[in-house]
Amino acid sequence: MKTSAPGQRLLSAVKYVRQGARFADVGTDHAYLPIYLLKEGLIESAVLSDINEGPLASARENARASGLADRVELVLCDGAAALADKRITDMAIFGMGGELIAQIIENAPFLKTDGVRLILQPMSKQEHLCEYLLKSGFSIIGETYTKDGGKFYRTLCAEYGGAYDAEENFAYIGPSDTPCEEIDAKIGYLKAHLSGLLRALDGKTLANLDASDELEKIDIIKKELSRLGARSV
Ligand SMILES: C[S@@+](CC[C@H](N)C(=O)[O-])C[C@H]1O[C@@H](n2cnc3c(N)ncnc32)[C@H](O)[C@@H]1O
Repeated sequence: MKTSAPGQRLLSAVKYVRQGARFADVGTDHAYLPIYLLKEGLIESAVLSDINEGPLASARENARASGLADRVELVLCDGAAALADKRITDMAIFGMGGELIAQIIENAPFLKTDGVRLILQPMSKQEHLCEYLLKSGFSIIGETYTKDGGKFYRTLCAEYGGAYDAEENFAYIGPSDTPCEEIDAKIGYLKAHLSGLLRALDGKTLANLDASDELEKIDIIKKELSRLGARSV
């Protein structure tokens, strides 16, 4: 059995999970997050789903070893559509690419319902996921930056509906009112994003390709880093 201590990346979900929620963890793998929520008494039971047998077996074993086997339901399925009849109120989708997370949401129309909360942690293409959520009628009701294992992560909390008015360039740089205790993590996250864009810019420049998209994003991120007081932008 792997250790079941969740790191800061997974713990970033905790403040968004509502007490007593009917919780689902899609792409659960080791199930560290739902095991933590169950142990802490934040939820009564959880649905754990994964597209692959191996990760689901790992989730089953970790839940059993934590004495929680009777409080989890395991579902082998692609995405979230098969969970439509589980009356889920709060759903985490962590550790997948932003495009895949957006696709999973789009393929599960029950998630576009009042009262269902999504807690999302994309590993890549975060801006794609943000843009998808905003154009699909979701409100971003929370956002958190964390550092875990030397890497930086962005976690989003979204609910369908509401008249959400995103700030300019939200998809790339998030809201302007980042709490003080998260500013270092946000700077780290933006710098990592900037490095990726600069590498892409180099590649396109060498290949004589149009890099106006990268240049625009680099400008947006550099301005935000400068606003946040980052050194050596
Ligand atoms: C990198 S792990 C992340 C595990 C955990 N959520 C975390 O953040 O630590 C990604 C997991 O998502 C699962 N997965 C990938 N595509 C999926 C899909 N379309 N539907 C459900 N699970 C999926 C994989 O099998 C794998 O267990």
